[in-house]
Amino acid sequence: MKTQVLAAILGGLLAFGAIQAASAAEGQAAPKLKWTTDGVTGHFDRAELKRGWTVYKQVCASCHSAHQLYYRNLTDIGFSEAEAKAIAAGDSVPAGPNEAGETHVDGSPIMRPALLSDKLAAPYANANAARAANNGALPPDLSLITKARKGGADYIHALLTGYKEPPAGFQLQQGMAFNAYFPGFQIAMPAPLVEGAISFDDGTNATVAQMARDVSAFLIWSAEPELEDRKRMGIKILAFLLVFTALLYALKRKIWADVH
Ligand code: HEC
Repeated sequence: MKTQVLAAILGGLLAFGAIQAASAAEGQAAPKLKWTTDGVTGHFDRAELKRGWTVYKQVCASCHSAHQLYYRNLTDIGFSEAEAKAIAAGDSVPAGPNEAGETHVDGSPIMRPALLSDKLAAPYANANAARAANNGALPPDLSLITKARKGGADYIHALLTGYKEPPAGFQLQQGMAFNAYFPGFQIAMPAPLVEGAISFDDGTNATVAQMARDVSAFLIWSAEPELEDRKRMGIKILAFLLVFTALLYALKRKIWADVH
C-alpha cells in the first residue's frame, strides 16, 4: 500500500517535470496586450499602421518578405495612390528575361522599378540565399505571421522586445541571440529594433516598445486586411437577429391571441 502511494507521488512528480520541460521548450508565454482590432468593435488605427509599415520597410524588409502584399494595398492603410506609386518606384523587382531573352551575364534577373500591381519586393532571390545570409536560419514570410503563431500580435511584440542577456550557464550557440519568448530561447534573428533607429513622419518617439507595437499592428492588418468588414458584418447580423426575434415574438403573440 505504502509503495503504491509512493509510486503515485513519484509518477506525479515525473509528469510535472515533463510539463515544466515542455514549457521551457516553448518559451515564455507572451503577455496579453490591448489592440485596436480587439472585440466586436475592433478597427484599424491608420496612423499606427503607417508607422508599422515604416518599421517593416526600414527594418524587417531587409531580411523578411511579405509576399501576400501588393504595393497597391498600401492605399488601404492611408497612403494616397501617388504615395504608394512613389514607394513602389523606390524598389526594384525582377523584370523577367526581357524580350530578347536576356538576363545578366551571371544569370541573375534584370531588375525594373516596382509598380502598384507588383508584390512587395523580397530581400533574397530564394530560400537558399536567405539561409546563407542568416546563419542557416530562414526568416519566415511575415504576411500571415500573426495567424501562424500562437499568441499572434502579442507574441510578435513579446519576441521583438524579448532580447536579454542569457542567464549564467546558458549555452548560446554561435551567431544566436537569447530571447525569452522564442521556443528554446535562442533565435537566429539578431535584435532587430534599436531605440531611435528610425524617425516616424508623425513625430512619434521611436522607442523599441513603440516600434514593436506599431509593426505588430501592421502585421495584424497584413494577415487580415478585411478585419473591419468582418467585424461590421458581425454587428449587422446581431442587430438583424435582435429585430427578427422581436418580430417573431410579436407574431407568436398574435397567432396565439385567441387561445385561452
Ligand atoms: C538581420 C535579419 C533580420 C531582420 C532585420 C529581422 N529578422 Fe525576423 N527573423 C530573422 C531570422 C533569420 C529568423 C529565423 C529565426 C530562427 O528560426 O531562429 C527570423 C524570425 C522571425 C520571426 C519568427 C519567429 C518564430 O516564432 O518562428 C518573426 C515573427 C520575425 N522574425 C519578425 C521580425 C520583424 C517584425 C522584424 C522587423 C522589426 C524582423 N523580424 C527583422 C532575421 C531577421
